[in-house]
Amino acid sequence: MADIHHSFLGLLVTVLYLLTGVSGETLSMFSRVGDDVSLPCNNVVYPNCSSTVWNYNRAGSTVTIEVVALGKIKDDKTERLSLGSDCSLHVSNVRAEDAGRYTCQQFLTETGSQHGGDAPVDLSVLTISSTTPVTDLTPDADMTLRCSLFSFMGHGTQCISGVSLSWVLNETGTEPQKYSGSQDPQHSSCDITLTVTLQKKDNNRKWTCTLTEKGNVKISIDFTSTFSGTSNAVKLPISHIMLFVALTIMAAIVTIHTSRRSRPPKALPPQAGESHRHWSS
Ligand SMILES: *[C@@H]1O[C@H](CO)[C@@H](O)[C@H](O)[C@H]1NC(C)=O
Ligand SMILES: *[C@@H]1O[C@H](CO)[C@@H](O)[C@H](O)[C@H]1NC(C)=O
Repeated sequence: MADIHHSFLGLLVTVLYLLTGVSGETLSMFSRVGDDVSLPCNNVVYPNCSSTVWNYNRAGSTVTIEVVALGKIKDDKTERLSLGSDCSLHVSNVRAEDAGRYTCQQFLTETGSQHGGDAPVDLSVLTISSTTPVTDLTPDADMTLRCSLFSFMGHGTQCISGVSLSWVLNETGTEPQKYSGSQDPQHSSCDITLTVTLQKKDNNRKWTCTLTEKGNVKISIDFTSTFSGTSNAVKLPISHIMLFVALTIMAAIVTIHTSRRSRPPKALPPQAGESHRHWSS
């Protein structure tokens, strides 16, 4: 009986060991373009971060960039990086080109070798845009939206395993003419499009693209279709103002030219009355 208990305990310890071993795996994080994200460092040794190094590999690149060296931010041209009190790496106003693999490492001394293993985090960035110029968004026009995930694998139809993008189309009425990225998990894609013929009621409508990982919704991103009809009303007065300015300048040129031509030659002293009339016209 005691033996059975013992082996059960041993098994439990093994399982727990295996479970904690999983934490050494790469963490996957998703962000929308423009959001702020915090990448955790799971192997911190000195709580003051003086042992922490963050390395970055851009999607598809083998070049490693050291972004944090022993607790200090390096070479941050865009000033969007900062270090959290727990040595996590904060990236503000995330851009598509921030996608890639970030690896947290520990070095107890400046010259010594790495302490322990890597703590990698893969950052993927979700983007949405209209391939139709926004000035062309009017009723009866076709609008094509594109939703893409930039990941450490790069940018394309191939997704990280278990991840897929899809359009949220729960409103009745406007049905898409053409779209890729349906709810079909067999055709998982990380670069999907949607084409709809806009209707009057689609002014200021939100179109949503959703990212799911193993069937769970992780993040969504919206695009709002705002008709450019309202900005046309603004364009007309501007062209009127331009015409008015142009006419004023032309009138001024003509006036100056006329008054110069009709100015009497220098040799003859101008008569006070005549000259006064010319300059006041
Ligand atoms: C950070 O903490 C370590 C270990 O406690 C210490 O040796 C080191 O001097 C500290 N560094 C700074 C900059 O405070
Ligand atoms: C569509 O789905 C979104 C998210 O689930 C929800 O917020 C919205 O109210 C739904 N719209 C309609 C018309 O059902």
